Amino acid sequence: MIPAAGRGVRLGPGAPKALRALNGTPMLIHAVRAMAASRAVSLVVVVAPADGAAEVKTLLADHALPERTDFLVVPGGATRQESVKLGLDALPAGIDIVLVHDAARPLVPVDTVDGVIEAVRDGAPAVVPALPVADTVKEVGPAAPGEPEPVVATPERARLRAVQTPQGFDRATLLRAHEASVVGEGATDCAGLVERLREPVVLVPGHEEAFKVTRPLDLVLAEAVLARRRA
Ligand code: C5P
Repeated sequence: MIPAAGRGVRLGPGAPKALRALNGTPMLIHAVRAMAASRAVSLVVVVAPADGAAEVKTLLADHALPERTDFLVVPGGATRQESVKLGLDALPAGIDIVLVHDAARPLVPVDTVDGVIEAVRDGAPAVVPALPVADTVKEVGPAAPGEPEPVVATPERARLRAVQTPQGFDRATLLRAHEASVVGEGATDCAGLVERLREPVVLVPGHEEAFKVTRPLDLVLAEAVLARRRA
Protein backbone atom coordinates (compact mmCIF):
# COMPACT_ATOMS: atom_id res chain seq x y z
CA MET A 1 0.00 0.00 0.00
CA ILE A 2 1.30 3.41 -0.93
CA PRO A 3 -0.08 6.34 1.08
CA ALA A 4 0.25 9.25 -1.34
CA ALA A 5 -2.38 11.67 -0.08
CA GLY A 6 -0.03 14.21 1.54
CA ARG A 7 0.20 17.78 0.28
CA GLY A 8 3.98 17.97 0.53
CA VAL A 9 3.97 21.43 2.08
CA ARG A 10 7.66 21.24 3.09
CA LEU A 11 8.61 20.77 -0.56
CA GLY A 12 7.29 24.23 -1.43
CA PRO A 13 4.24 25.33 -3.44
CA GLY A 14 2.93 23.15 -6.28
CA ALA A 15 1.11 19.88 -6.93
CA PRO A 16 0.68 17.24 -4.17
CA LYS A 17 4.15 15.81 -3.49
CA ALA A 18 3.49 12.36 -4.93
CA LEU A 19 2.53 13.89 -8.27
CA ARG A 20 5.68 16.00 -8.64
CA ALA A 21 8.10 14.84 -11.29
CA LEU A 22 11.52 13.27 -10.83
CA ASN A 23 13.33 13.25 -14.17
CA GLY A 24 9.97 13.77 -15.90
CA THR A 25 8.10 10.92 -14.14
CA PRO A 26 5.82 11.51 -11.12
CA MET A 27 7.31 10.44 -7.82
CA LEU A 28 4.32 8.17 -7.22
CA ILE A 29 5.03 6.21 -10.42
CA HIS A 30 8.65 5.69 -9.30
CA ALA A 31 7.34 4.45 -5.93
CA VAL A 32 4.76 2.12 -7.54
CA ARG A 33 7.44 0.68 -9.85
CA ALA A 34 9.82 0.23 -6.91
CA MET A 35 7.23 -1.90 -5.09
CA ALA A 36 6.00 -3.77 -8.17
CA ALA A 37 9.62 -4.67 -8.92
CA SER A 38 9.34 -7.31 -6.19
CA ARG A 39 7.96 -10.57 -7.57
CA ALA A 40 6.22 -11.09 -4.23
CA VAL A 41 3.99 -8.02 -4.72
CA SER A 42 0.69 -8.98 -6.38
CA LEU A 43 -1.37 -5.85 -5.67
CA VAL A 44 -0.46 -2.18 -5.21
CA VAL A 45 -3.06 -0.04 -3.44
CA VAL A 46 -2.44 3.67 -3.93
CA VAL A 47 -4.08 5.99 -1.42
CA ALA A 48 -4.59 9.17 -3.43
CA PRO A 49 -5.38 12.74 -2.38
CA ALA A 50 -9.16 12.77 -1.69
CA ASP A 51 -9.77 15.12 -4.62
CA GLY A 52 -7.19 13.46 -6.87
CA ALA A 53 -8.20 9.80 -7.12
CA ALA A 54 -9.34 10.12 -10.75
CA GLU A 55 -6.10 11.85 -11.69
CA VAL A 56 -4.05 9.10 -10.02
CA LYS A 57 -6.04 6.39 -11.84
CA THR A 58 -5.26 8.10 -15.17
CA LEU A 59 -1.61 8.41 -14.19
CA LEU A 60 -1.31 4.69 -13.44
CA ALA A 61 -3.05 3.85 -16.73
CA ASP A 62 -0.65 6.12 -18.65
CA HIS A 63 2.58 4.58 -17.36
CA ALA A 64 4.08 1.18 -18.07
CA LEU A 65 3.73 -1.07 -15.01
CA PRO A 66 4.38 -4.82 -14.60
CA GLU A 67 1.47 -6.92 -15.93
CA ARG A 68 1.59 -9.41 -13.06
CA THR A 69 0.63 -6.66 -10.58
CA ASP A 70 -2.93 -5.40 -9.95
CA PHE A 71 -3.63 -1.80 -8.99
CA LEU A 72 -6.31 -0.19 -6.86
CA VAL A 73 -6.76 3.52 -6.09
CA VAL A 74 -8.62 4.71 -2.99
CA PRO A 75 -9.15 8.29 -1.71
CA GLY A 76 -7.07 9.22 1.35
CA GLY A 77 -7.71 11.10 4.59
CA ALA A 78 -6.45 14.11 6.53
CA THR A 79 -3.45 12.36 8.12
CA ARG A 80 -1.11 9.58 7.03
CA GLN A 81 -2.65 7.31 9.65
CA GLU A 82 -6.16 7.91 8.31
CA SER A 83 -4.97 7.35 4.76
CA VAL A 84 -3.39 4.01 5.67
CA LYS A 85 -6.58 2.91 7.46
CA LEU A 86 -8.66 3.76 4.37
CA GLY A 87 -6.23 1.72 2.27
CA LEU A 88 -6.46 -1.21 4.71
CA ASP A 89 -10.26 -1.12 4.59
CA ALA A 90 -10.09 -1.48 0.79
CA LEU A 91 -7.79 -4.54 0.78
CA PRO A 92 -9.38 -7.64 -0.74
CA ALA A 93 -9.49 -10.97 1.12
CA GLY A 94 -6.67 -13.45 0.64
CA ILE A 95 -3.79 -11.05 1.29
CA ASP A 96 -1.91 -11.90 4.49
CA ILE A 97 1.15 -9.65 4.26
CA VAL A 98 0.86 -5.89 3.85
CA LEU A 99 3.70 -3.51 3.09
CA VAL A 100 3.11 0.19 3.66
CA HIS A 101 5.39 2.36 1.58
CA ASP A 102 5.56 6.17 1.42
CA ALA A 103 5.18 7.63 -2.06
CA ALA A 104 7.80 10.05 -0.77
CA ARG A 105 10.45 7.27 -0.89
CA PRO A 106 10.42 6.67 -4.65
CA LEU A 107 13.86 5.09 -5.02
CA VAL A 108 13.80 2.22 -2.52
CA PRO A 109 15.78 -0.70 -4.04
CA VAL A 110 13.97 -4.00 -4.62
CA ASP A 111 16.39 -5.85 -2.32
CA THR A 112 15.15 -3.74 0.58
CA VAL A 113 11.52 -4.51 -0.32
CA ASP A 114 12.29 -8.23 -0.56
CA GLY A 115 14.20 -8.16 2.75
CA VAL A 116 11.13 -6.77 4.52
CA ILE A 117 8.80 -9.35 2.94
CA GLU A 118 11.15 -12.19 3.86
CA ALA A 119 11.28 -11.14 7.51
CA VAL A 120 7.45 -11.04 7.73
CA ARG A 121 7.26 -14.45 6.03
CA ASP A 122 9.73 -15.70 8.64
CA GLY A 123 7.17 -14.84 11.32
CA ALA A 124 7.77 -11.24 12.45
CA PRO A 125 4.43 -9.38 12.88
CA ALA A 126 6.04 -6.03 12.03
CA VAL A 127 9.25 -5.29 10.11
CA VAL A 128 10.97 -1.96 9.57
CA PRO A 129 14.01 -1.07 7.44
CA ALA A 130 16.37 1.11 9.46
CA LEU A 131 19.74 2.87 9.27
CA PRO A 132 22.05 4.30 11.93
CA VAL A 133 21.64 8.03 12.53
CA ALA A 134 24.40 10.36 11.29
CA ASP A 135 23.37 13.47 13.24
CA THR A 136 23.29 13.78 16.99
CA VAL A 137 19.62 14.24 17.92
CA LYS A 138 18.30 16.54 20.68
CA GLU A 139 14.94 16.32 22.38
CA VAL A 140 13.44 19.76 22.94
CA GLY A 141 10.73 21.06 25.24
CA PRO A 142 8.04 23.63 24.52
CA ALA A 143 9.34 27.17 23.95
CA ALA A 144 8.13 30.16 25.94
CA PRO A 145 6.68 32.87 23.65
CA GLY A 146 9.51 34.56 21.72
CA GLU A 147 12.15 32.22 23.23
CA PRO A 148 14.13 29.42 21.50
CA GLU A 149 13.16 25.81 22.26
CA PRO A 150 15.04 24.47 25.32
CA VAL A 151 17.02 21.23 24.93
CA VAL A 152 15.80 18.67 27.46
CA ALA A 153 17.76 15.54 26.49
CA THR A 154 20.35 14.05 24.13
CA PRO A 155 19.54 10.40 23.41
CA GLU A 156 22.65 8.26 22.91
CA ARG A 157 23.19 8.32 19.13
CA ALA A 158 24.47 4.75 18.92
CA ARG A 159 21.07 3.51 20.13
CA LEU A 160 19.02 5.50 17.60
CA ARG A 161 17.90 4.31 14.16
CA ALA A 162 16.25 6.27 11.37
CA VAL A 163 13.42 4.17 9.97
CA GLN A 164 12.27 3.96 6.40
CA THR A 165 9.59 2.24 4.39
CA PRO A 166 8.28 -0.15 3.17
CA GLN A 167 7.28 -1.34 6.62
CA GLY A 168 5.93 -4.87 6.46
CA PHE A 169 3.17 -6.41 8.56
CA ASP A 170 1.15 -9.45 9.19
CA ARG A 171 -2.19 -8.05 7.96
CA ALA A 172 -4.19 -8.94 11.08
CA THR A 173 -1.62 -7.25 13.35
CA LEU A 174 -1.63 -4.05 11.29
CA LEU A 175 -5.42 -3.93 11.29
CA ARG A 176 -5.53 -4.50 15.06
CA ALA A 177 -2.94 -1.72 15.56
CA HIS A 178 -5.01 0.74 13.53
CA GLU A 179 -8.27 -0.21 15.20
CA ALA A 180 -6.70 0.22 18.67
CA SER A 181 -5.17 3.59 17.83
CA VAL A 182 -6.60 7.01 18.42
CA VAL A 183 -6.42 9.26 15.37
CA GLY A 184 -4.53 12.44 16.18
CA GLU A 185 -2.16 10.81 18.68
CA GLY A 186 0.66 11.65 16.35
CA ALA A 187 1.91 8.27 15.09
CA THR A 188 4.15 9.05 12.13
CA ASP A 189 4.63 5.42 11.13
CA CYS A 190 2.57 2.23 11.27
CA ALA A 191 5.16 0.30 13.29
CA GLY A 192 4.68 2.83 16.10
CA LEU A 193 1.04 1.71 16.36
CA VAL A 194 2.12 -1.94 16.53
CA GLU A 195 4.56 -1.06 19.35
CA ARG A 196 1.61 0.28 21.34
CA LEU A 197 0.08 -3.21 21.14
CA ARG A 198 3.35 -4.46 22.70
CA GLU A 199 3.94 -6.67 19.69
CA PRO A 200 7.58 -7.04 18.60
CA VAL A 201 8.86 -4.81 15.79
CA VAL A 202 11.87 -6.25 13.97
CA LEU A 203 14.49 -4.14 12.15
CA VAL A 204 16.14 -5.12 8.85
CA PRO A 205 18.84 -3.10 7.08
CA GLY A 206 17.52 -0.02 5.29
CA HIS A 207 19.18 1.57 2.27
CA GLU A 208 20.48 5.10 1.73
CA GLU A 209 18.54 5.32 -1.56
CA ALA A 210 15.29 4.75 0.36
CA PHE A 211 15.56 8.32 1.72
CA LYS A 212 12.41 10.43 1.98
CA VAL A 213 11.91 13.27 -0.46
CA THR A 214 10.75 16.01 1.87
CA ARG A 215 12.56 19.25 1.08
CA PRO A 216 13.68 20.86 -2.22
CA LEU A 217 17.29 19.58 -1.83
CA ASP A 218 15.96 16.00 -1.68
CA LEU A 219 14.65 16.42 -5.24
CA VAL A 220 18.17 17.28 -6.41
CA LEU A 221 19.55 14.18 -4.65
CA ALA A 222 16.80 11.94 -6.07
CA GLU A 223 17.49 13.09 -9.64
CA ALA A 224 21.22 12.52 -9.09
CA VAL A 225 20.52 8.95 -7.90
CA LEU A 226 18.39 8.30 -11.00
CA ALA A 227 21.15 9.70 -13.25
CA ARG A 228 23.72 7.46 -11.55
CA ARG A 229 21.49 4.41 -12.04
CA ARG A 230 21.27 5.18 -15.76
CA ALA A 231 25.01 5.70 -16.20
O1 C5P B 1 3.90 13.79 5.79
P1 C5P B 1 4.82 12.62 5.69
O2 C5P B 1 6.10 12.98 5.01
O3 C5P B 1 5.02 11.83 6.93
O4 C5P B 1 4.09 11.66 4.65
C1 C5P B 1 4.51 10.35 4.43
C2 C5P B 1 3.62 9.70 3.39
O5 C5P B 1 2.27 9.71 3.84
C3 C5P B 1 3.65 10.43 2.04
O6 C5P B 1 3.78 9.48 0.99
C4 C5P B 1 2.32 11.16 2.02
O7 C5P B 1 1.78 11.32 0.71
C5 C5P B 1 1.41 10.23 2.83
N1 C5P B 1 0.27 10.94 3.43
C6 C5P B 1 -1.02 10.48 3.16
N2 C5P B 1 -2.12 11.16 3.67
C7 C5P B 1 -1.94 12.26 4.43
C8 C5P B 1 -0.63 12.73 4.74
C9 C5P B 1 0.46 12.03 4.24
O8 C5P B 1 -1.21 9.49 2.43
N3 C5P B 1 -3.02 12.90 4.86
